[in-house]
Amino acid sequence: MTKTNSRESEYPVDPMFLDRWSPRAFTGAIIQEAELLTLLDAAHWAPSSANNQPWRFIYALKGSEHWEKFVSLLNESNQEWAKNASALIFVVSRSFNGARGTSEERPSYTHSFDAGTAWGYLAIQARISGFYAHGMGGIKHDEIKEKLDVPDGYRVEAGIAVGRIADKSVLSERNQEREFPSQRKPLSEIASNGHFVGNG
Ligand SMILES: Cc1cc2nc3c(=O)[nH]c(=O)nc-3n(C[C@H](O)[C@H](O)[C@H](O)COP(=O)(O)O)c2cc1C
Repeated sequence: MTKTNSRESEYPVDPMFLDRWSPRAFTGAIIQEAELLTLLDAAHWAPSSANNQPWRFIYALKGSEHWEKFVSLLNESNQEWAKNASALIFVVSRSFNGARGTSEERPSYTHSFDAGTAWGYLAIQARISGFYAHGMGGIKHDEIKEKLDVPDGYRVEAGIAVGRIADKSVLSERNQEREFPSQRKPLSEIASNGHFVGNG
């Protein structure tokens, strides 16, 4: 078992997996594009079915001309805190394999799974690089497609806020109350040997 960050694993996992969590309190510090690209580089070393690499990342850096538009593409409850992040990323994935309009084109079963793996890599690299990454399902999917020119056949998966952690006093009272590393279900509820366990 590993203990860090008010978390304790049941088996001896690397502390990095417990150190990664999703704060909402960010400093609003500027991030260099090369620092963000380091996170995206890690993300795109994720494995994917047949090495199709269906993930696409559309990003904006705080202080850039795209920033306000990206903030406006989050749901209001996420805007409230994510506007203080250093970068915002939308993860999009290609939902078909093979070249468009050819006999090779067919639906992908695993594109979202693959893109999720890439997000996980990004979140771990963020910690290694001294940042935190916070995933967001609360985003304006249709508007993102339209305003960021996402073509048909690509699924808008999620948003990611990346930043340097700040004291929780920068948050609203409601968000301050939930600003801590969360716990997990016991492993026995989600992992089973030989047959399915975990319905509930
Ligand atoms: C795909 C995804 C979508 C999420 N959507 C939101 C969101 O819209 N707003 C938010 O504040 N947190 C969001 N979260 C953060 C989760 O609530 C958080 O990861 C979860 O509670 C586990 O906590 P931890 O990441 O601190 O370990 C999201 C996380 C993921 C991975």
